[in-house]
Amino acid sequence: MTQIRLPEGVPGNTVATSHAASLTLLRLDRISAFPENPACSGNKVFKLLPLVERLAGSKTPVCLISVGGPWSNHLHALAALGRQLSVPVLGLVRGEPELWTPTLKDCRHWGMAIQFVRREQFRRRYEPDALREMAARAAAIHFPGLPRKAQIVIPEGGSEQQAMSGLALLAERIRHSVPAMDSLVLPVGSGGTLAGLRLALPAQVRVEGVMAARDTERVRQRVSDWLVSAGSTGDRLKATAPAAPWTLNDSQAGPGFGKLSAAQRLRQPQLESWLGTPLDPVYTLKMSLALEAGLRAGRYAGRHVVALHTGGLQGRRDLQDGPSEVVSRL
Ligand SMILES: Cc1ncc(COP(=O)(O)O)c(C=O)c1O
Repeated sequence: MTQIRLPEGVPGNTVATSHAASLTLLRLDRISAFPENPACSGNKVFKLLPLVERLAGSKTPVCLISVGGPWSNHLHALAALGRQLSVPVLGLVRGEPELWTPTLKDCRHWGMAIQFVRREQFRRRYEPDALREMAARAAAIHFPGLPRKAQIVIPEGGSEQQAMSGLALLAERIRHSVPAMDSLVLPVGSGGTLAGLRLALPAQVRVEGVMAARDTERVRQRVSDWLVSAGSTGDRLKATAPAAPWTLNDSQAGPGFGKLSAAQRLRQPQLESWLGTPLDPVYTLKMSLALEAGLRAGRYAGRHVVALHTGGLQGRRDLQDGPSEVVSRL
């Protein structure tokens, strides 16, 4: 079984001190689980690490089943992981319309089986029983003969309790890279990465998540649930964290998930040259917009801020064809 070896530190760009704050951008996009296939990169490396360990210890054949949209970074990373570890993977993808995006073409190329699901089914993906049922039905078609107990069902974005120990390792690597950090800013989809980092970082580090979508209250609830359940299980990530500060900033959610206003889109080149890195349109661009606005407003004065580039650059390939007013991925 392939082992994942990760560097001690996270590569970073120190961005010139501005508005009385120091800013370091840490580039998870430059960390990959498998040197042979850089697709499994960014925050996915750490979220999926516990899964890789579990697969290494598994003596019987298993398959991985997960769910996402047609541009999902998570499915992309999981397909690369399946290919690398020779584990079959099935992706349940929001259909209607059935879009063969560059993301899904890569997934298919790496051997992932893809089943498009209707919107009303897809909406139920947060209900564990509904997801398991959806997974079992599709697995019966794509992997007949593999018993149900061999199915490892992974929630959207890889955000689940199991991922938290991988994110604890990320927290360690971040602190090792920037010991002076006292504020962390990162993009948020499901909230899993934020929860894992909040759990593992000391309480004096402020954690701010920048929303990619407009479902702030749902995400707030999910993050709280993860924090509380880690606290109540008393595992090694023991949560002083429910009391430690974290906030959600939805000032840049804009027209919604996977969509940019014309104004947001226009800022991309400027922000990329400021930060010295390409950005993805779904997560890191919105984070950078919020970060810049926060700096200008003096919200980080006197602080050492780490901003996390969580990857997702494969999603840039779809931008070319977007309409000019709003880039829509829905
Ligand atoms: C590139 C990128 N950044 C940020 C996120 C948000 O992570 P989370 O869903 O854990 O909030 C995702 C989704 O997993 C992502 O693909």
